[in-house]
Amino acid sequence: LADESAQQTGLSRRRFLAGLGVAAAGAVVGGGGVAIADAANAAPASGTVPFYGRYQAGITTDQQDRLCFAAFDFVTSSRDDVIAMLKDWTTAAEAMCAGRATGSVAGDVNAPPDDTGEALGLSAANLTLTFGFGSSFFSQGGVDRFGVAGRKPAALVDIPPFKGDELDPGISDGDMCVQACADDPQVAFHAVRNLARIGRGTVVMRWNQLGFGRTATTSRTQSTPRNLMGMKDGTDNLRAQDTDLLNQNVWVGSNSDQAWMTNGTYLVSRRIRMLIEVWDRAGLGDQESTIGRTKLEGAPLGKTHEKDPVDLNATNAAGLPQIPAKAHIRLAAPSTNNGKHILRRGYSFTDGMDQLGTLDAGLFFIAFQNDPRTHFIPIQQKLSQNDALNEYIQHTSSALFAVPGGWNKGEYIGQRLFAA
Ligand code: HEM
Repeated sequence: LADESAQQTGLSRRRFLAGLGVAAAGAVVGGGGVAIADAANAAPASGTVPFYGRYQAGITTDQQDRLCFAAFDFVTSSRDDVIAMLKDWTTAAEAMCAGRATGSVAGDVNAPPDDTGEALGLSAANLTLTFGFGSSFFSQGGVDRFGVAGRKPAALVDIPPFKGDELDPGISDGDMCVQACADDPQVAFHAVRNLARIGRGTVVMRWNQLGFGRTATTSRTQSTPRNLMGMKDGTDNLRAQDTDLLNQNVWVGSNSDQAWMTNGTYLVSRRIRMLIEVWDRAGLGDQESTIGRTKLEGAPLGKTHEKDPVDLNATNAAGLPQIPAKAHIRLAAPSTNNGKHILRRGYSFTDGMDQLGTLDAGLFFIAFQNDPRTHFIPIQQKLSQNDALNEYIQHTSSALFAVPGGWNKGEYIGQRLFAA
C-alpha cells in the first residue's frame, strides 16, 4: 500500500492512462513515451486480483504463498448489526484488495487511526479475501439467530468424526471465515487484523491460522511446491484451466437448494499436524510408498517424471502394485472416489513446539468442492481408515463454510443470503 498522497497520484495516473486507452503498465502507444514512464511509476496497481467477479477470488486464483485464515463468531443477535458490519467489511475488503488502506492513518490525534498502517508502502501482493458462512451462523441451539435459518444449504452439514481425529473444538468451526491469501505475509495479516477491528463489538475472532508456503497449484503456470514432508504437493490438483471439472466438482450450479449459493462453493479446512520427527526417521522407501510418489522427482512410483500419468493398475516385476494398496494417492485419486475431484489450496504451517519439544507443524488443508457430502467427507472417510499417511499425521481442527458466489460491484458480502 502506498501512503495516501501516493495513492491518489497512482489513481489519477491510472485514470489518465485509462483515458488514453493504455491497458497495462508498459503498453506501447503511439508517441506514448510519457505514458509509459508514468505507468511504470504507478506501482500501487501492480499485483492486484479483482475483488468483484462471478466467483469469489482466492479459489482458482493462482495460489499465493502466504495465508492468514480466521474464523469469527457473532456476538450480536441483531440482523441489522450483522448486515452493517458486512457492508463495512465490503468497503474495507475492496480497498485492501486494490492495494489501498481501509482509512486514514493521519488526522485526529485523540482517536486511533482508521487503518492500522502496517501495510503502507507495500503492494497489494495479490491479496484475496474469501468469505464463508458456517452452520452456526444459520442456527445455534435451535435459535434462528439472524432470520436466515431457512436458507441454510443442505450441503452445510456437520462434518462427521473420522477415525483418529484429535480435534480441538476451540480451533474448529465458526460463524464466518475469512481466508486471506497474499504473496506478502504482512499484507495478509493486515487484512484480517483490520477486518477484526472493524467488526469489534459485532464479531470476535474464534481462531486463526497462519500459513507459509503454498502446498498446491491452482494454475497450470505454477510450479509444484513441496510440503513439510519434503514431497511435491499439488501435482494432480484441479486448476483454473479445468473449466469442465470445476463446473462439475467445485462451483455450485443454479439448481442447488439455495439460489444464493449459485456460483459459490464449500470450503473445508483441516489443520493436520505432521508427526515430523517420526517421518524424518522413516526410510526413503517407506516415505515414497506412503505417498505413492518418488521424493526427489515426485513421479508416480514406477514412472520417471512428475507429470507422468498415474496408473493404479501398474505392477512391478514381482507382480505387486507399483502404487501400494494404502498409498495416499491411490486412496485419494478421483478414479477410486466415484470420479470426485476436490480443489486443494492448503498451506504449510508451524506453530512452534509442544510441551514435549516436538514440532507443532504440518499442513493446513483447505479444499473447495460443490458438495462436501459427495466429495471431502467420503474421501476422508476412506483416508482415515486406510491411508498409510495416518501413521505420520493427526487432524487437530476441522471446519466447513458455505462460500457464496462472487460479489457484484455495489453489493455487500453475503447480500444475496439476506435479500428478500
Ligand atoms: C498432512 C496431510 C496430507 C499430506 C502431507 C498430503 C500430501 C499429498 C501428496 C504429496 C500428494 C501427491 C502430489 C499431488 O498430486 O498433489 C497428495 C495428493 C492428493 N491428496 Fe493429499 N495430503 C494430505 C492430506 C490430504 C487430505 C486430507 C485429502 C482429502 C481428504 C487429500 C487429498 C489428496 C488428493 C485428492 C490428491 C491427488 C490424488 C491423485 O489424483 O493422484 N490429501 N497429497
